[in-house]
Amino acid sequence: MTNKTQTPQKIYLKDYTPPSYAVEKVDLDIRLFDDHAIVGARLHMTRAHAGKLELFGRDLTLKSICLNGRELSVEDYQVDEEGLTILEAPDSALIETWVQISPQTNTTLEGLYQAGTGDELMFVTQCEPEGFRKIAFFPDRPDVLTEYTTRLEAPKRFGTLLANGNLIESGEVDEDRHYTIWHDPTKKPSYLFAAVIANLEVMQDSYTTMEGREVLLEIYADAQDIDKCHVGMQALKDAMKWDEDNYGRAYDLDRYMIVATGQFNMGAMENKGLNIFNTSCVLSSPETTTDERSFHVKSVIAHEYFHNWTGNRITCRDWFQLCLKEGFTVFRDQSFSGDFRSKAVQRIEDVSLLRSAQFAEDAGSLAHPVRPESFVEINNFYTMTIYEKGAEIVRMIANFLGKDKFRQGSDEYFARYDGQAVTVEDFLSALSVADARVMDFLPWYRQPGTPVVSGSYHVQGDKVSVKLAQKTRHVPNYDAPIALPIPVDTAIFDSATGEMLASQMLLLTKDSDVFEFDGIELSDGAHPVVSILRNFSAPVKSDFDYTDEDLARLVAFETEGFNRWQALQTLVNRWLFGTSKEADLIVDVIQKAVDALIDSDPMLAARLFDLPSQKELAMAYDENYDPAFVKARRDELYQLIADGLSADAKRWYHRLPMQAYEDTPDARGRRLLRNVLLDLRLTANDNDVKDDAYQQYEQASCMSERLGALTAMINHNLDQKDNYVHDFYEKFSHEDLVIDAWFSAQAMSDHTSVKHIAALMQRKDYDWNTPNRVRTTLGALAAKPVQLWTAEGLDLYLSAVERLDSTNPLLAARLLSALARWYTLTPDHKAMAKQKLTELSAKATSKNVLEFLENMQTV
Ligand code: ARG
Ligand code: ZN
Repeated sequence: MTNKTQTPQKIYLKDYTPPSYAVEKVDLDIRLFDDHAIVGARLHMTRAHAGKLELFGRDLTLKSICLNGRELSVEDYQVDEEGLTILEAPDSALIETWVQISPQTNTTLEGLYQAGTGDELMFVTQCEPEGFRKIAFFPDRPDVLTEYTTRLEAPKRFGTLLANGNLIESGEVDEDRHYTIWHDPTKKPSYLFAAVIANLEVMQDSYTTMEGREVLLEIYADAQDIDKCHVGMQALKDAMKWDEDNYGRAYDLDRYMIVATGQFNMGAMENKGLNIFNTSCVLSSPETTTDERSFHVKSVIAHEYFHNWTGNRITCRDWFQLCLKEGFTVFRDQSFSGDFRSKAVQRIEDVSLLRSAQFAEDAGSLAHPVRPESFVEINNFYTMTIYEKGAEIVRMIANFLGKDKFRQGSDEYFARYDGQAVTVEDFLSALSVADARVMDFLPWYRQPGTPVVSGSYHVQGDKVSVKLAQKTRHVPNYDAPIALPIPVDTAIFDSATGEMLASQMLLLTKDSDVFEFDGIELSDGAHPVVSILRNFSAPVKSDFDYTDEDLARLVAFETEGFNRWQALQTLVNRWLFGTSKEADLIVDVIQKAVDALIDSDPMLAARLFDLPSQKELAMAYDENYDPAFVKARRDELYQLIADGLSADAKRWYHRLPMQAYEDTPDARGRRLLRNVLLDLRLTANDNDVKDDAYQQYEQASCMSERLGALTAMINHNLDQKDNYVHDFYEKFSHEDLVIDAWFSAQAMSDHTSVKHIAALMQRKDYDWNTPNRVRTTLGALAAKPVQLWTAEGLDLYLSAVERLDSTNPLLAARLLSALARWYTLTPDHKAMAKQKLTELSAKATSKNVLEFLENMQTV
């Protein structure tokens, strides 16, 4: 029972102390029975620093404990909800505990838990960050690195018994039970421990590293899904090669395993040599998976693989340093993905995500630094800020150093800290061998809030001066913001010829500064067109005094695709916020740009129709945010674009006939553009578009085409929509991930009311124990602010949070975080939201939800 009057305990970075004992080796013995499991753990410990011998443990029933071969009695140790302390421990201690746990009733998806039912019943672990303590008593902290030997024992119907490292033994216990023993030679923190007890099929392949090591690659999945592992397998081999080519890092074990499970809180987990993946991030086939999801699979496989060096071989000293592994690894997976498609599109996607999700976090009540200084529940800090802003900081440093120096710095990092648990300062200090100024980036890790860079330019003769200034909001409870080093990649174009006359990476280090470009030779009558923050060279908001006409010129002349897209986005934002009235200019710019790109980069062409999400637009309001007004503005612009381009959209659509499925960037781009145009044409209501939608569904060669058509039918409420919704369900009723998409497509539509969403959530196939399924409807509601911020919407949303608070607090808290900017609403809405959040505070019990509620109310 949680005591509700007790405020959960905060942990501070400044209180870090090194572990009192090291664990040289651990032997684990996990025995699974029908309704429980028994776990034995033998820890070979030696004193490292002063302090007590403390082991964490949660929800464990202690059966016995021995110290150096002697059974301890209750006077010898203290045990409470958080763990066990041995009162007088010698410097060298062999501790052996036996505990009972209950994976069958563990709904938190942390520790060892049951996933799936019936034929698909399996048991998997999730130990990051603090799940290992739900399996055994252990100093469960990332700076305790240990060599693991793991024995797994289970009934024979579970044919798959996996743990980290190499298989060293397997055999029979008796007629009904069997076992395996695994040894992982690399020392690792407990959060990287993994075990799987299941009955899965395996797809095998191999890879020979640049060091000549032959590695067995295995992906484990349910029998019906095993043929959906080809994309993931190829991605794994591509990632292994890429890390060798780009960072000089090779894989270090003889075996690399990936296991797919339908029940997982996050995307995937990088456990040493035994990754565990959400099925949504590993399975892919043309018939069941959209191009977008399929590419996502590739990037998540790469992400987890890259952790083997950035996270596993070099790990975090403590959880405040989470960005050390996540920021760097996201940067690495973004770079990898950009090498497998249009770089511009990769950057557009990464920046769009950062803007709509991370900027919102940084602008709201849950804002925190990339390296937080305190937390109650570390699970609440697997955030956009730590991952995405963390990646942007590494990217800034990488760009600032340039390719060769960054490689020199990363080589130093791997050489210096291999096998250690380190900090952000250690990372920067290794990189600073290439340039001492890297250390100046440290404040980026400490200061929350998104800087705003504003600027203007001035011409005198052949000299152009660019003035830049920065400002960051003062986030409550943090120090006053200071100026950060902000790399601003800047170019100057000739307004008449479009020629690039100069380009330079400016480094703004002060509150404001002026940068001069000399010798700018303009053509007759032309003026300079200055393009700043090219390729989004820093994670900031920018406000430069462009004219609308110059923005239109940049869409045409910029040499980087990202910047062309950005110039258009700036025009779009100006229209949406009323500072420009020229919708015709936007239409004209899109028309020319799409004509120019449709053959060479159809995916970039598709992105030119992007409008900022409602959530992103909401960020402009610190008060009096009216979701209906914002949505109406956005819809109005979309309608103007659709009407203005209706003839072109039809022409373009028919230039992109459906073809036999191919998995190339070009084919994916054409499919995406076709879907975008289908929606645009339906918005413009052109005559034969409905038949085109039905036909695209009927003749679809793959899921991108089919779901694109279905989504368009739902969003535009076409007459035959219900038939197709039904047909789609029938066709794919045995494919959980496709049914997730079926739920989402309906829930996302403006035509789907809150009541209708609630009805979807009453269905028998809406499984509250499967986070993927839960997110389909609630994620959609969170993306529809007009519905979310009503009494009905909030009641539905918060009742789900309340329900999950006791079964899966991690998921509950993540859902809750979408409401972090409740206080910016118009007064009536704000009062209602406040009341409902207060009601939830009285009922919630998990640390996860309580920490967020508390932070959300101190705005
Ligand atoms: N380290 C994993 C990744 O980035 C995320 C796991 C987080 N899991 C959790 N329960 N918080 O790929
Ligand atoms: Zn990660």
